[in-house]
Amino acid sequence: MNGYRAELLSLPHDPREAGDAARIHHPDGLLVVEDGLIVAAGPFEAVAPRFPGLAVQHFPGKLIVPGFVDTHTHYPQIDRIASYGHQLLDWLEQHIFPAEAAFSAPLHARDVADGFLEELLRNGTTTALVFATVHEGSVDALFEAALAREMRIISGKVLMDLGPEELRDADGHGRAETEALIARWRGRGRLGYAITPRFALTSSDAQLQMAGELMAVHPDALLHTHLAENLAEVAAVAQRFGDSPDYLGVYERFGLVGPRSVFAHCIHLEPAALARMATARAGASLCPTSNLFLGSGLFDLARLDAAGVRVGFGTDVGAGTSFSMLATLREAYKVCQLRSCALDPFRALHLATAGGAAILGLGDRIGALEPGMEADFLVLDPATTPLLARRTAGKGLAERLFALQMLGDDRAIHATYVAGRLAHGGPAV
Ligand code: GUN
Ligand code: ZN
Repeated sequence: MNGYRAELLSLPHDPREAGDAARIHHPDGLLVVEDGLIVAAGPFEAVAPRFPGLAVQHFPGKLIVPGFVDTHTHYPQIDRIASYGHQLLDWLEQHIFPAEAAFSAPLHARDVADGFLEELLRNGTTTALVFATVHEGSVDALFEAALAREMRIISGKVLMDLGPEELRDADGHGRAETEALIARWRGRGRLGYAITPRFALTSSDAQLQMAGELMAVHPDALLHTHLAENLAEVAAVAQRFGDSPDYLGVYERFGLVGPRSVFAHCIHLEPAALARMATARAGASLCPTSNLFLGSGLFDLARLDAAGVRVGFGTDVGAGTSFSMLATLREAYKVCQLRSCALDPFRALHLATAGGAAILGLGDRIGALEPGMEADFLVLDPATTPLLARRTAGKGLAERLFALQMLGDDRAIHATYVAGRLAHGGPAV
């Protein structure tokens, strides 16, 4: 059993609905952890006497929050982050498909998976929903690397039977490989499986149909894909699926829209589609650094909120330009400003933790500092750079949290704990 003393902040509920009651905040708090789970969290003075002899690590001036949840990213794209000059469809052809072809080699996949997970941990991300490639071995590589780190990673073989020849599912549309992966990895570590058609344009109707059948027979699997990211993509979908009411309608037709579905981007959607997403309780993963980098557009959080769509944030590396959830929240704030709304820093932290966990179906296990939940947490340093130190000195919680989101990055992650074990950074204070 171990104790961690610092300021504690957890946002298990959406402040939009629950207001200040959403916030669990202990200026001098104690988090107690045993066997990978949180056993207590509260004011130091109240909690410490319940655990005589407890070994306590003290982080004065620092803030403990739940580990970040990245609801959409691509591990095979780490080495193509920051690739110049194109919007989505050309960027895929020029930069991404050639990089993904290299994942037919298992050693390459494992090497990249290790580097990718280390980068997540350096940035305080303890759970992620991750695209692999079309190759079965690309998922094995990521899951092995995640198992070794006890991380909560959800992934799946990409389904794509249209598109470039070297990245194409053949006969059977990837069904046998998907079934084999689910059978091989079910129940191991903290891993989860996501049925992952890349997007409507790279799957035949038969493959989308098959993905729907897989969702029906695997009630523990998520559905992970892209939706309405880029105008040329939306136009190509409308052209191919002229009998669908809209882009979401394509996925609906094949049984891919429900409470276990996570759709990355959701920028170019009409109110009717948003209303159907909300009714289905599907999740939207908003990826601001990617949307700005590829010029895809500005998501409309106020509109998603008004429709009642559940949302989380994603980095979408390698279209996204940072692994940092703090950097992602900063760009989300700016996107909201361009839409004339202000993203409250507490809501932003909620969406980056418990909100993201909820759309991944993990809201009862991660995303908050509560007894019984898994002990994935971070120690944030609000004074990690001279500028942050100046801006946060003597300030209240809201201002410090906002400054961390506007100015912070991996340097603000003093330590990352996964299932109660130090996974990045140091106990030195
Ligand atoms: N749409 C289909 N594939 C991709 C991808 O790899 N990245 C992004 N951002 N959008 C996609
Ligand atoms: Zn993506």
